[in-house]
Amino acid sequence: MKLRTLIAGLAAVTFSVAAFAQQPIVIKFSHVVAVDTPKGKAAEFFAKKAADLTKGKVKVEVYANSALYKDKEEMEALQLGAVQMLAPSLAKFGPLGAKEFEVFDFPFIFDDYNDLHKVTQGPVGQSILKKLDAKGIVGLSYWDNGFKSFSANTPIKTPADLKGKKLRIQSSKVLEEQIRSVGALPQVMAFSEVYQALQTGVVDGTENPISNLYTQKMHEVQKHLTLTEHGYLGYAVIVNKKFWEGLPADVRGQLETAMKESTAFANKIAKEENEGALDGVKKSGKTTVYAPTKDERMAFKKAMAPVHAKMADRVGKDLLQSIYKETGFDPNTL
Ligand code: LMR
Repeated sequence: MKLRTLIAGLAAVTFSVAAFAQQPIVIKFSHVVAVDTPKGKAAEFFAKKAADLTKGKVKVEVYANSALYKDKEEMEALQLGAVQMLAPSLAKFGPLGAKEFEVFDFPFIFDDYNDLHKVTQGPVGQSILKKLDAKGIVGLSYWDNGFKSFSANTPIKTPADLKGKKLRIQSSKVLEEQIRSVGALPQVMAFSEVYQALQTGVVDGTENPISNLYTQKMHEVQKHLTLTEHGYLGYAVIVNKKFWEGLPADVRGQLETAMKESTAFANKIAKEENEGALDGVKKSGKTTVYAPTKDERMAFKKAMAPVHAKMADRVGKDLLQSIYKETGFDPNTL
């Protein structure tokens, strides 16, 4: 009888250990944009790669479109460990105290994706990600989106056309200054609230890469879009440090490989996703799309150039200089 009880007990323990061992490690990955965007698609790609490479040991649950949290809340949720992974835009790290990320918001600092990659794929980019360690966060990678353009209900050909307009921006002090440089009024607002704010006239306009504008249907409530491409918007993929460092080393290694492949995927599709979105906006016929001439674009560049000197101290003069060195941008020559 005693032996039988012992055997039954051992069997129960073995069963529950086996059941426990089969439970996948869940990574909740929250983001604020549509599935059909560079970030949305890259997050899905990562989820699939992570499942494949870990042979099902890790399950990545992706929550798109602010389904779990809005902009500011998701950062808090990550630090508390309520979600494990995010990919916030680089403009949203300032409120965490990681002001260096706002260097990516400086107007016209990157001419194109080539310029951008010199930073995001080099030592300067890595040193910026490292700033997150002290916040209980590990920065894994940069994912591209694209270059922002202005939209409003009136035509935008010159910086003066934005004067007095309330323009929604992300929570970045550099972006606030950029909006003020053209005489407009910056309004910080969560991404999920922008469509309604544009529709109801709470704000007059906004700036975003076309993939975001299109997938949130902002073009349906904005009569004019001008392809100013005056600044960059992209992401840092981040994880809760305690969670990440607590993973078995082999699993973490497999996830690092999955992240590497997802980054290559994200950066490959970003440009084409934005081009496809622009086609969609044009075909919709709801917005007049204007491509500024070289001189018209230069007028925006000149109007926004003082932002560089004004905000240099916020991100650190040395950091700003190291980016100028990579990209060749010099605001003093404008
Ligand atoms: C925004 O708030 O405009 C963007 O950061 C949204 C996003 O994640 O691309």
